[in-house]
Amino acid sequence: MISEGMDLATLIEVSDKHGDGLVTPREFHTLCKELGIDTDAEQNYFRFLDVNRDGMISADDDQIPDGYIDQMDHEFIVNPQRSTEPYANSNGVSQRLEHLIKIEMRNSAKRISQVRKSESAETIGNGNVLCTYSVPILNLPMALEGATILHISDIHFLKGNKKRIDNINNLGATLGHVPDVIVCTGDYIKDDLEDFTDDAVEALHNLSPESRKFFVPGNHDFFGKNGKRTSDYVDGLMMEAGYQNLTGRHQPLELRGAVLNFYGIDDALLGKPEIPVLEPGSRYEKNILITHNLDAINNSFPGCWDLILSGHLHSGEINLWLYDGVDHLIRTGKYSNLNGQRRKWKSLSSRTLSYVSPGFSTHHARINTEKAGATLMTLTNYHQISKAA
Ligand SMILES: [Fe+2]
Repeated sequence: MISEGMDLATLIEVSDKHGDGLVTPREFHTLCKELGIDTDAEQNYFRFLDVNRDGMISADDDQIPDGYIDQMDHEFIVNPQRSTEPYANSNGVSQRLEHLIKIEMRNSAKRISQVRKSESAETIGNGNVLCTYSVPILNLPMALEGATILHISDIHFLKGNKKRIDNINNLGATLGHVPDVIVCTGDYIKDDLEDFTDDAVEALHNLSPESRKFFVPGNHDFFGKNGKRTSDYVDGLMMEAGYQNLTGRHQPLELRGAVLNFYGIDDALLGKPEIPVLEPGSRYEKNILITHNLDAINNSFPGCWDLILSGHLHSGEINLWLYDGVDHLIRTGKYSNLNGQRRKWKSLSSRTLSYVSPGFSTHHARINTEKAGATLMTLTNYHQISKAA
């Protein structure tokens, strides 16, 4: 059906005779005629697809930019073009949208209060800890209740620094059980490829071998001290250690009969970050996105994601009254912070939770901020019971 889960790029490609990225009612009529769609249905489809009601079908109607127009785009529209309102039946649209936005904001606030941290973090050694959270996922299938994800970021292996390898080995001993999935969100090396020694590869390989393992690169993984490209080597070593490269890819994972989708985005600073296009139907499954730098998803409404995991910020490392290390990253162009998140958890919508890892190493010193380490998450079901008042 055109109106349900229509691939927008295909629609524009087959209808847009002018090549301006806009599908006019006349162009849409030509398509419907070719498809044998009658005039009444055509008008209904057009109204449905023209989410912002500007009289054209275009990328602007894809309010949750996933390449499809469906009911969720109508639910999340925030800026209908009322001044050029071409439809007689759109009265009251703004009140309905205001109402939906209020519900959305209220549900987001409730949701973040449901993220539970365990009482005490496990000590890994060398000042690192394993933090454990129970993470509420909206309408999580029963089979995925209790699924565990170990999140590691910013290990920054450094030649001559054996502690960072010990940390990975100690983490394995600290875990106590086998996580279903391990995700690594970049910055495996500090300055050069020689930092990624055989011992480091072996430590990553030996970390919970039965777990499914994914990775994306970070900005430190792209170039060495002399400007020589290292990313291909780093990717190769991660794969050698048993981690699947998720950059720009989608990997469905079947756990106890239910599907958990994993997506990866390239680094925002030195990679080519592109939001993966979700396959039809997968937006209604549980979707986890991993990326090094949260900037990779800036300016996009994350309505399709249940969980976004990133790193890069090291929690700022130093957070004092007049100085927050994250500000330094912003000033030096390493983070733009458009989504307003600096560390730990943030609820980006009633569906999407975002977590920024504290990182598994420290460049300088940690003062008044999170300890370095890894994070173990247990997924739990969250029923959204809040309805319109
Ligand atoms: Fe980074």
